[in-house]
Order: sequence, then C-alpha cells, then structure tokens
Amino acid sequence: MAKQRILSGIQPTGNLHLGNYLGAIRNWVDLQEEYDAFLFMADLHAITVPHDPTRLAEDTYKVAATYIACGIDPEKATIFVQSHLSAHSELAWLFNCITPLNWLERMIQFKEKAIKQGENVSIGLLDYPVLQAADILLYEPDLVPVGEDQKQHLELTRDIAARLNFQFGSEENPVLKVPEPMIRKEGARVMSLTDGSKKMSKSDPSDQSRIDLTDPPEVMVKKFKRAKTDPERGLWFDDPARPECHNLLTLYMLLSGQTKEAVAAECREMGWGQFKPLLAETAVEALSPIQARFNELMGDRAYLESILKTGDEKARALANQTLDRVKTALGYSKPL
Ligand code: TRP
Repeated sequence: MAKQRILSGIQPTGNLHLGNYLGAIRNWVDLQEEYDAFLFMADLHAITVPHDPTRLAEDTYKVAATYIACGIDPEKATIFVQSHLSAHSELAWLFNCITPLNWLERMIQFKEKAIKQGENVSIGLLDYPVLQAADILLYEPDLVPVGEDQKQHLELTRDIAARLNFQFGSEENPVLKVPEPMIRKEGARVMSLTDGSKKMSKSDPSDQSRIDLTDPPEVMVKKFKRAKTDPERGLWFDDPARPECHNLLTLYMLLSGQTKEAVAAECREMGWGQFKPLLAETAVEALSPIQARFNELMGDRAYLESILKTGDEKARALANQTLDRVKTALGYSKPL
C-alpha cells in the first residue's frame, strides 16, 4: 500500500529556535519514516510583513539546512522552496476568487499581526491563509502536521476545498482532496523564556525570550540563567500557577529524551540554581551535533542546491497536476 502523505512548512524569517525544532521539525523526523513527507520553506509567506531582500534567499537556505541538520533525510522527504513553484501563487489567485472576504477577516492570526503592523498592513497579510490553502491542497496530503496556532488556517483550507468541490466538482468526482489536520499536543509547545504563558516566537522583540538553534553554548547558558522563574522551591509539571516551571521542565524532558515521570522524579527536590545549569548543559549537548551539521551544510552550497533541485522537481510534478485539474474545473482553456 502506498504511504500516506504529509505536508508542512516553515517561514524563513529570522533564525529558527528551539520551538521550531522541538515543536515541529523533530516530529517530522519521526513522521518521515512512516509517511511520504513534503516539507518546504514558505518564502512567499515571508514577505507578508516587511522583509529584508538581502536576507531572504540566505534565510531560505538556512531553513533547508536546519531541516537536514535536525534529521530530515532528503532521501525520504521532499524538501522544496515555495517560490520556486509558480503553482502556489497561481492556485492562490484562483482560490482568492472563490473565498469570501469575511472568512479571512475572521482569522485570529491576521487580527493579531495586523494590530502589530499598525497602518502598514498588506493585502498579502490578509491573504496569507489562502496561499497556505494552496500550499496544502496542491499536494493532496492526507495529514498536515502543524501547531495549535495553525488550526484555524487548516479549517479554512478544508472550507476552501469543500467550497470549490461543491461549486465546480461533483460528489463522485471531487476536484480537491480535503486533508485532515494533525495538531500537535500542547505538551510539545515550547514557551518563551521571559514569559511562560507566551509561545516561543521568532517575532518576539527580545532575543532573551528564545534559544536560537545557532546560539553558541555560552549564549545558551546565559539565556537559561536569566530565564524567568519563580521563588517556589522544588520543581513540578502542570501547575497553572507556574508556567515557567512547566516549560523549563518540558524543555529538559524533550532535550534529554527522558520520560515525564523520570524528569518529575529527578527534579522534584531541585532548586533553580541546580536545575538551570543542568538544563543548559543538556541543551548544549543536544544541539551541538545539529549545529555542526548545519555549518557543514551551509558551507556546501552545491550539495544543498542539489537537494532543493530534486525536491523542486518532485514537488512540481504533483503541484502542476492539481493546478491543471482546478483550472479545467473552473473552465479555463488549455494553454496552447
Ligand atoms: N503558516 C505556517 C506557520 O506559520 C507556515 C505554512 C505556510 C504552512 N504554508 C503552510 C504550514 C502549509 C503547513 C502547511 O507555521
């Protein structure tokens, strides 16, 4: 039986951090064994907020190198660059014309980002989820592994697919395959080091709030040392009054590869002065092979490019099939 397909992507804006690794990429590394994995760099999404053109290409390569350094195997997974395939933009346009405006105005992430942007909100920021729907539906994935914050975008994707199928397809002959979301459990959500109730994020203005995957050991040690804590003695999971404690214990659990029970028992009597150096050392140890591989890959542009070329080609074959099917359903003539 053919493997089921998964698809996911990350925007190449800023450095990837522990949240991207532990929350997303590490799960993909497991999933690639069982699924046909399509993983891409969402560089078209990266320009929905003001961006630096001198960094876009480099940041896109960095995300690709990070995927591979973290254990994504280019022999198993298809790694590609969104902007290299014009089908994404083209399908997004077609979707634009069947998507009601008020579906987009309801999107929580748009509202939050729009508030941050003030006056300078682009149509692209509003349209972001339609492009995401195109990213997904082009490849007919069975499952789309994403974080809780993307749930609404996946529902919109399913709604767009259903609407297009209803308007331009038939029940026996749907134009688009409707995918299922695969939402990560809350436990794998990595929170900010300065506020345990906020997600660790590339867009947080404070560097201290996150551990970048490229942070040198001494920077990691310093960031963990300064991480927000509380005056309580003893450490335990799942206390709503102690979000920072829960987050740092979770990080230790994930980075050390131990079970929750083992970590709970080990840290029950610890104070922060003992726990923080242990966490820092564990993080440095877990990330150092990833950093070494990342640097190696960034130094071998020809190899990275060959991976992306193969990925682009595999992705293009699938994407163009879906795009053609949609255009035919909408009544377009074939290009001559
Ligand atoms: N919006 C996603 C995020 O910020 C990134 C993304 C773009 C994506 N297109 C996608 C994720 C398609 C999954 C599938 O995390």
